Amino acid sequence: MSRTLRIAPSVLSTDLGRLKEQIDQAKAGGADWLHVDVMDGRFVPNLTFGAPLIKALKKISDLPLDVHLMVLEPENYIAEYADLGCSVFTFHPEATVHVQRHLTAVREKGMKAGLALNPSTPLTAVDEVVNDLDLLLIMSVNPGFGGQKYIPASTDKIQRARNLLDFRRSAATLEVDGGIDPVTIKEAWMVGADTFVAGQAVFGQADPAAAIKNLRRACAVEA
Ligand code: DX5
Ligand code: ZN
Repeated sequence: MSRTLRIAPSVLSTDLGRLKEQIDQAKAGGADWLHVDVMDGRFVPNLTFGAPLIKALKKISDLPLDVHLMVLEPENYIAEYADLGCSVFTFHPEATVHVQRHLTAVREKGMKAGLALNPSTPLTAVDEVVNDLDLLLIMSVNPGFGGQKYIPASTDKIQRARNLLDFRRSAATLEVDGGIDPVTIKEAWMVGADTFVAGQAVFGQADPAAAIKNLRRACAVEA
């Protein structure tokens, strides 16, 4: 398989008191991106972080920031997050009205434009904007919390997402988020995902560097 496998450890599962140490461990283990879960307590039932943490991450790490906004009206953050140096800006189509306009604005600001689909949101939600996408994120849990169990029906959805991107000749990244571990990563990789968010499976482990290598090995791809 010629796809490049990417691991994006999720900052949500770090011990914030040991943020730099844990991120350095992840980088040493071959992390490709850092996944940053921004939650507003409205789109999802949890509050996390925003610009202040992103600023801190830019100071302590040179890993690209893969920002996942679980907020209403994510368009309010496009300019600010671009200026902070974020690489990927992913939002939920359920959280705003003018999705195509915002995807275009994200690209114009120099970031990769991503859409995330909740487990109950059909793939058809991205049908009209496939060519405006640099990344499609399939949620394999209902967003809001780390450490949840992978929803088995996600695998079929990932496969259909792969087919959709291929059929439309899209080179967009196909990312999966939620409950990724050495078993589920293999399942999702086999049906065509290429980028994997992992919180508990990396920062919840005693050795985050070894944990990343294990995830890669599960797909039979060496670091
Ligand atoms: C879930 C978040 C995820 C979370 C994944 O709402 O979007 O990014 O950090 O955590 P794990 O890998 O522990 O399921
Ligand atoms: Zn996420």
